[in-house]
Amino acid sequence: MGFVPKKAKAFGGNMNDLVRITKDNDVAIITIDNPPVNALSPGVPEGIWAAIDEMNRDAAIKAAVVIGGGRTFVAGADIKEFSKMTSGASPRRSLLPLLLHIEDSPKPVVMAIHGNAFGGGLELAMAGHYRVASPLAQVGQPEVKLGIIPGAGGTQRLPRLVGVAKAVEMCAEGKPVSAREAAMLGLIDQLIEVDLLTGAVAFAREVADRPAPKTRERSEELATAAENSPIFTAARDATGKKQRGMKAPLAAIDAVEAATRLSFEEGCQTEAKLFTECLFSDQSKALIHVFFGEREVAKIPDVPKDTPVIPVNRVAVVGSGTMGGGIAMVFANAGIPVLLKDVDKTALEIGMSKIGKNYANSVQRGRFTQAFVDERLRLITPVSTYDAFDGVDMVVEAVFEGMALKKTVFAELDRACRRRAILASNTSTLNIDEIAGATSRSEAVIGTHFFSPANVMRLLEIVRGKKSSKEVIATCMQLSKKLGKIGVLVGNCRGFAGNRMFGPYRREAQFLVEEGADVERVDHALVEFGCAMGPLATGDLAGLDVGWRIRKEYRHLDKPGIRQPFAEDRLCELGRYGQKTLKGWYRYDENRRASADPEVIALVRKWSADAGIPQRQISADEIVDRCVYALVNEGARILEEGYALRAVDIDIIYLNGYGFPAYRGGPMWHADTVGLPKVYQRICEFHQQHGELWAPAPLLRRLVEAGKTFAEFDKEQAAAA
Ligand code: 3HC
Ligand code: NAI
Repeated sequence: MGFVPKKAKAFGGNMNDLVRITKDNDVAIITIDNPPVNALSPGVPEGIWAAIDEMNRDAAIKAAVVIGGGRTFVAGADIKEFSKMTSGASPRRSLLPLLLHIEDSPKPVVMAIHGNAFGGGLELAMAGHYRVASPLAQVGQPEVKLGIIPGAGGTQRLPRLVGVAKAVEMCAEGKPVSAREAAMLGLIDQLIEVDLLTGAVAFAREVADRPAPKTRERSEELATAAENSPIFTAARDATGKKQRGMKAPLAAIDAVEAATRLSFEEGCQTEAKLFTECLFSDQSKALIHVFFGEREVAKIPDVPKDTPVIPVNRVAVVGSGTMGGGIAMVFANAGIPVLLKDVDKTALEIGMSKIGKNYANSVQRGRFTQAFVDERLRLITPVSTYDAFDGVDMVVEAVFEGMALKKTVFAELDRACRRRAILASNTSTLNIDEIAGATSRSEAVIGTHFFSPANVMRLLEIVRGKKSSKEVIATCMQLSKKLGKIGVLVGNCRGFAGNRMFGPYRREAQFLVEEGADVERVDHALVEFGCAMGPLATGDLAGLDVGWRIRKEYRHLDKPGIRQPFAEDRLCELGRYGQKTLKGWYRYDENRRASADPEVIALVRKWSADAGIPQRQISADEIVDRCVYALVNEGARILEEGYALRAVDIDIIYLNGYGFPAYRGGPMWHADTVGLPKVYQRICEFHQQHGELWAPAPLLRRLVEAGKTFAEFDKEQAAAA
């Protein structure tokens, strides 16, 4: 077993409950039965090994079919096992020996794929002699999304089947391919349109007497070094842009390159080394946290899974502006008919025309077909009255931000809609309970805070009002999935979770400029940290006037004697609203390309001098610490006050709504990774230097005193629930 990486444990097989073997005359059927997704958890590889041995021992059997029980083939290695391996709680285990064992089987093994063959699942399939699949199946090597690379020969067998370019793409980008595409690529030998098992058994019988081809012995797709070199260069280049800062995609490319230069055995050794380096990296730990976090946020302790939901078959959106138009598209994309209402006829026309343009762009970029778009557009009906509102199950209000207007609209909706209809507000700052008070059905009122552009951004903050019913919460959580969004339940505080944290984050960015840092330097430091955009450029994109108007409305709540940033308000007073006025923190050309604006820096320097703010050189580290720890400190307060259920919920909000780098796991996970004592100490320093705004959150202090992390806080909360 030269392929077993050092220290990894090889396994022999024992049949068990996770793998069954049955017979269809001369074909053995090996069924993997490890719900929900047939992950290769301990016991599964042993079971497959034993089943292969058993069918080879049985003289009456000519071939085997390996199939997944339930809804899928095999979704990969058991991701829960990785943290046990890196912490030393479980021995390291490699699937490589099992895959060689299958490939060396003298009798052909046919892998029958439905659902997904992902990661170790596809690696298992490639070790079979043949692969058949249902047309709706998907296959892929998504490991990079977990910060690792295929670790069971995937980077070595895949290029031998699909060629180097496609293997690089699949391993470095992690996107799945459909069974139909896989069949065209030579990864799937036959698509089975009818019953998969019946078709697979017939296929196995057909190939039983042929010599069983071994993927690892194939080389015709590997091409020459001269042909491959530009593929690797282009892939590395693309990775640097599309997956900026991530290490695993580069490691995946290196591993595929090894397949083209080394023997299969040496290639596997290179892959194993790269896999291990990735597995033990902070990036992988963070991305695995994100994988489970995205699933965890769907779990609401007091809203059990079996809470009844209200079927949402028809909806209405009120307000056809930036958000309303995008939200209407989100529903239409999910096949749900939408009424789109606006008081202003021209605004409605503009809204519908923007929707049309957005769809036309999607067709141009190849995201949607024209037929799909025509169908979606037919689902959106512009209206100017509430006449048809008694037929909808849910309304999302997206009119101008203002309490008086929202209350008027909700009172109208209360009268226009049927009793069980959900009334949701897309408000980004206003009190949901106060809005609910304008209706006779507070239990049906909830916040659904979409992010801009609504048809693109994945995050949906679902804001629980004091009286929002469990049924309404469960419906919105479930609906978010149907809409392709990631729904996170938050409490009703000013700014909810995301924007409440974004305030201190952007406040610090402004302070830094007021203290002497250049605008681009601040943004650049955060981009280098991994954020999609810097905080000041983000302000320009969203419109500086939005925050300015809100600040003016809430100015009476500012505590006297506490420093407030002034630069952005003054820029707004000068009409510099950001991209929309082609001037904000930056200057923009007609294509909205940004360049530094010396006028801004001169103005800020003057304003700072007038305010007596000493100017100094500020390091990139301080910029990142000030901005990111402002998020962490406010996040800890939100958590303690119960406006977010778990630290991981805050992480998922930041990754999906605010461009925080996924490979850092979100602000709270990042703080755990840095070490809470270190973060706390830095916050205490800022508190001393900058005063009250930096008072450390009590929860953070308590966790540090107890030697705990936010992740441990989440576990304790879950155990107590
Ligand atoms: N290991 C452990 N648990 C897994 C898992 C895995 N590979 N895949 C899914 N699960 C769990 C989920 O956490 C979830 O648990 P929960 O119900 O307790 O929250 C449950 O299975 C159902 O998963 P989903 O909610 O995601 O179900 P969907 O039907 O929406 O999606 C899926 C199914 C497309 C298979 C999706 O779960 C998925 O993408 N899974 C991960 C696939 C993956 O990344 N595979 C590679 C693993 S690494 C590897 O194989 C390394 C190898 O090269 C050695
Ligand atoms: P917008 O100004 O683009 O559009 C508002 C629309 O509401 C206008 O078309 C207006 O004619 C219409 N309207 C006003 N009164 C109405 C009434 N009584 N009945 C029907 N329509 C009416 O505003 P935008 O940006 O779309 O914001 C809408 C809501 O979404 C606000 O509550 C805002 O806080 C929130 N939000 C905005 C985000 C953004 O980035 N723009 C992000 C997340 C939430």
